[in-house]
Amino acid sequence: MARFTILPLPYALILVAAACSVLGYVPYDAAPRSTGGAGHHASARTYIVLVEPPPAHTHEDDEAAHRRWHESFLLSSGAGAGSRRRVRHSYTSVLSGFAARLTDDELAAVSRRPGFVRAFPERRVQLMTTRSPGFLGLTPDGGVWNATGYGEGTIIGFLDTGIDEKHPSFHDDGMPPPPPRWKGACQPPVRCNNKLIGAASFVGDNTTTDDVGHGTHTTGTAAGRFVEGVSAFGLGGGGGTAAGMAPGAHLAVYKVCDAQGCFESDLLAGMDAAVKDGVDVLSVSLGGISTPLDKDPIAIGAFAAVTKGVLVVCAGGNSGPLPSTLSNEAPWVLTVAAGSVDRSFRASVRLGDGEMFEGESLVQDKDFSSKVYPLYYSNGLNYCDYFDANITGMVVVCDTETPVPPMSSIEAVSNAGGAGVVFINEPDFGYTIVVEKYDNLPMSQVTAVDGTKIMGYAMKGTSTSNHTATIVFNSTVVGVKPSPIVAAFSSRGPSVASPGVLKPDIMAPGLNILAAWPSEVPVGAPQSSSFNVVSGTSMATPHITGVAALVKKVHPDWSTAAIKSAIMTTSSAVDNAGNQIMDEEHRKASFYSVGRRY
Ligand SMILES: *[C@@H]1O[C@H](CO)[C@@H](O)[C@H](O)[C@H]1NC(C)=O
Ligand SMILES: *[C@@H]1O[C@H](CO)[C@@H](O)[C@H](O)[C@H]1NC(C)=O
Ligand SMILES: *[C@@H]1O[C@H](CO)[C@@H](O)[C@H](O)[C@H]1NC(C)=O
Ligand SMILES: *[C@@H]1O[C@H](CO)[C@@H](O)[C@H](O)[C@H]1NC(C)=O
Ligand SMILES: *[C@@H]1O[C@H](CO)[C@@H](O)[C@H](O)[C@H]1NC(C)=O
Repeated sequence: MARFTILPLPYALILVAAACSVLGYVPYDAAPRSTGGAGHHASARTYIVLVEPPPAHTHEDDEAAHRRWHESFLLSSGAGAGSRRRVRHSYTSVLSGFAARLTDDELAAVSRRPGFVRAFPERRVQLMTTRSPGFLGLTPDGGVWNATGYGEGTIIGFLDTGIDEKHPSFHDDGMPPPPPRWKGACQPPVRCNNKLIGAASFVGDNTTTDDVGHGTHTTGTAAGRFVEGVSAFGLGGGGGTAAGMAPGAHLAVYKVCDAQGCFESDLLAGMDAAVKDGVDVLSVSLGGISTPLDKDPIAIGAFAAVTKGVLVVCAGGNSGPLPSTLSNEAPWVLTVAAGSVDRSFRASVRLGDGEMFEGESLVQDKDFSSKVYPLYYSNGLNYCDYFDANITGMVVVCDTETPVPPMSSIEAVSNAGGAGVVFINEPDFGYTIVVEKYDNLPMSQVTAVDGTKIMGYAMKGTSTSNHTATIVFNSTVVGVKPSPIVAAFSSRGPSVASPGVLKPDIMAPGLNILAAWPSEVPVGAPQSSSFNVVSGTSMATPHITGVAALVKKVHPDWSTAAIKSAIMTTSSAVDNAGNQIMDEEHRKASFYSVGRRY
């Protein structure tokens, strides 16, 4: 099994820090599903088995008859009377088939049954706002929100890690009940309200609680209600109003991932249920490595969903900036790239010679800025794993090789008595600065270009003892130009699976996005916050999902292709300075990073 990733950058780090490349992908076949239940052969793995529809015209809605048909494939496979138990999921809507754990011999037996079509070993994938609605031109007075009724009456489904249903973003004051066509429900103990109208788990537990935070963040981004006085760690507009893109839309949550990641068979089960329940738009902030479309059950399932009128919006992946790094490239899904917004959590480095460099940080300590500190940079031990000098009371400059500074370096500086730390971006990341909430060590993250100048200053002369610096914290700055720029981590085309079709389709805000968060899931050092700042194409995706709900509200009769086309052809080709959108290196962004501009 390979695996999918939920792909917000920071999580990916937290989730699989031990195993992985920095973006959270782990190597193909690295992580088999733990065997639940006794008596399974060690060599067994989960397969998604496509079969012909049941014979004799079983009625489409007769789920039990479908399941019996699927179970019949296991009868001669050695599974015997246990076949009922062995069918993990039975699919009827987005494809005809089932998921089961099989040994090679059992698979061979299944494949000899009449009606067998194909079997795929299950892959594992991982999980791949307040400011962004305004940045995208959605404002409460008049404008698109008013014209689209805030997406009222539309239904957005999420394949994700669950939801913190008690979060203030999901209250239903003043919301109408779901439309009569809705067939979904909430799995107890979660109670549906008029906002959250469906919640079900497919990961083998019996709770839709979000233990990761990812699902709460994405649902809040797409369709959170207006919440007053929002900030994360005192940042993000000093208590602004948070709202999702389609605050009037109903939500249905299909939990298909947990902290271990997401398995394809569960994902497909969630997709199957969402289509049956009647969602209008399906938001998929998950992804695996590129796979030929006819071997990718998610692409196959999404195709069926689209033919049934459900628009499927997917994260493009976080493996940029190298080319041909996309996930979710099927031509029939809307593939979303990630860009910056016009907000900066400003933490500027001021050197002893008066030069200032605009960095960013979520740790803001204004008292720190009133003093100057000796500046320390070791040309040899520059990753701050350990130090060859006494750094007590100093501001330490560290290089990074990862999108976000490693927690271990922050701890090392802190433990060695450092007063603060300046992290220099990895060179590939250009102007993209991914911030994350850490412990309260005053810090700033700067671009590699600025970092080079800071290093130059720190190493000038023979002794470092005269070199000083401080970090000037200036809270949240908005109106930053140019915005958006492509986020460095956003995966790039061309599509490997389907090179003739230009991908990604569109770019949306996915860098340092502030949105809802479960208070129970700690942020950075053990802290609790009901909003958090997270980055990834996972965060860009629900922005587009929400916009799709707004379009659907105004044009309920439009096909998924028409909605997709309308969104793509009305997207902006210029940034907030009026110039062509740029990439992380401030070069003109190519079609392979932002999609086609019209
Ligand atoms: C909002 O929309 C309603 C009708 O949909 C219209 O009557 C009203 O003028 C609009 N308000 C603004 C501020 O545009
Ligand atoms: C949920 O599962 C746990 C353990 O699997 C079990 O202890 C608990 O009783 C279950 N709760 C419900 C409501 O089924
Ligand atoms: C490191 O420097 C600080 C302050 O300059 C001093 O108090 C401390 O004793 C030094 N530690 C060592 C191990 O030299
Ligand atoms: C460093 O400080 C010493 C004494 O304070 C001074 O003599 C020297 O010129 C300074 N060097 C630089 C490069 O500023
Ligand atoms: C802080 O931000 C404000 C507004 O953007 C700006 O006017 C001010 O100069 C900044 N201060 C510093 C120290 O960067």
